[in-house]
Amino acid sequence: MDGRCLVQVLFNAFVVLLVLHTNPSLGLHSGVAHPDTSMKIMTKCIATERQALLAIKQDLMDYNGSLSSWGSEALQEDCCKWKGVSCSNQSGHVIKLDLAEQMLRGKLSPKLIMLQHLEYLDLSDNNFGSGPIPRFIGSLSRLRYLDLSGTSISCQIPYHLGNLTHLQNLKLHFNYGSTPAQNLNWLPHLSSLTHLTINSLNLSNAFDWLETVNKLPKLKVLALRRCLLPPIDQSSSLPHINSKTLGRIDLSFNYLNSSIFPWLFKTSLVYLDLISNHLTGSIPDVFQTMSSLVHLDLSFNQLEGSIPHSFAQLCSLQFLALSGNNLES
Ligand SMILES: *[C@@H]1O[C@H](CO)[C@@H](O)[C@H](O)[C@H]1NC(C)=O
Ligand SMILES: *[C@@H]1O[C@H](CO)[C@@H](O)[C@H](O)[C@H]1NC(C)=O
Ligand SMILES: *[C@@H]1O[C@H](CO)[C@@H](O)[C@H](O)[C@H]1NC(C)=O
Ligand SMILES: *[C@@H]1O[C@H](CO)[C@@H](O)[C@H](O)[C@H]1NC(C)=O
Ligand SMILES: *[C@@H]1O[C@H](CO)[C@@H](O)[C@H](O)[C@H]1NC(C)=O
Repeated sequence: MDGRCLVQVLFNAFVVLLVLHTNPSLGLHSGVAHPDTSMKIMTKCIATERQALLAIKQDLMDYNGSLSSWGSEALQEDCCKWKGVSCSNQSGHVIKLDLAEQMLRGKLSPKLIMLQHLEYLDLSDNNFGSGPIPRFIGSLSRLRYLDLSGTSISCQIPYHLGNLTHLQNLKLHFNYGSTPAQNLNWLPHLSSLTHLTINSLNLSNAFDWLETVNKLPKLKVLALRRCLLPPIDQSSSLPHINSKTLGRIDLSFNYLNSSIFPWLFKTSLVYLDLISNHLTGSIPDVFQTMSSLVHLDLSFNQLEGSIPHSFAQLCSLQFLALSGNNLES
């Protein structure tokens, strides 16, 4: 046992017991370059896509004038120069629509599906009313990035989302409200997913959530927070994490019990958050194999006993939070 690591771990344990940490990098924007303005000069938008964008604008109230560059006048002809719109410098098609936090309000126009070459769609933090996620989003088959967080769309996911087989990054953050339980039968189709971030979806009946997640071979980041996730039934044969790439897991604020621990066994996890679940008993020894762990938060559970000696082998650990348990100091 490396004495220095043990000292470091114990130091961290007592210093950061109360820290609650949210990591902004959890839902990394992956692989999408920022639009290069010099490129846009070379592109000129496609007329049908321009019409579609104007139709989208027409259905929205634009409190902050965010879409003032979107217009029908001759000077505004090139929609590739409109705010939030990026076109391919080769085909001229709109490939990116980034309207995050633009204070837009209204209905999301089905004309959106005219933008068939969209690869990146970020509509987060606008208000599109309280309906379910529109089914037509599922026909934007080239999407790699989809963020509908905080759009006030109700916590219902259409099966059609499963048609987005190129999707790499999906972010859905719902406003917490009472909704019937949702299933995850659309999720296994998204075999390109690397980042999955869902907040506040009612998954209380998704007893197969772990098997479903295991069907995503490229997953790097898994965050299912406040999703009412049920505990894993020990009688079923327990799968281990399947994805070789999974490095970050955040399953905070759910109903998971200590049966989740064997699932985490022998992985190259870097980041693990299990804040406020129903973990009981002593902290298991699984962590001794997790030598790449940098961040571990098990606070607000019902864990007992002492901090295991095996923590001394977690030489990469920089953040450890164990407050709100019944651990011996
Ligand atoms: C509204 O627009 C102003 C000026 O363009 C800008 O400074 C401000 O950040 C915008 N507010 C929001 C919430 O987008
Ligand atoms: C088009 O854009 C891509 C990146 O999106 C860039 O690598 C490429 O060099 C550009 N091509 C031209 C002709 O500008
Ligand atoms: C994908 O779309 C086809 C029709 O285009 C539909 O029949 C199928 O059910 C869809 N699949 C999913 C998972 O939505
Ligand atoms: C979640 O779904 C279950 C089953 O449909 C329901 O009983 C429960 O009230 C829902 N909870 C919330 C917070 O919506
Ligand atoms: C966790 O909950 C499941 C389902 O209720 C149960 O089968 C299992 O025994 C529980 N595990 C622990 C460690 O309490």
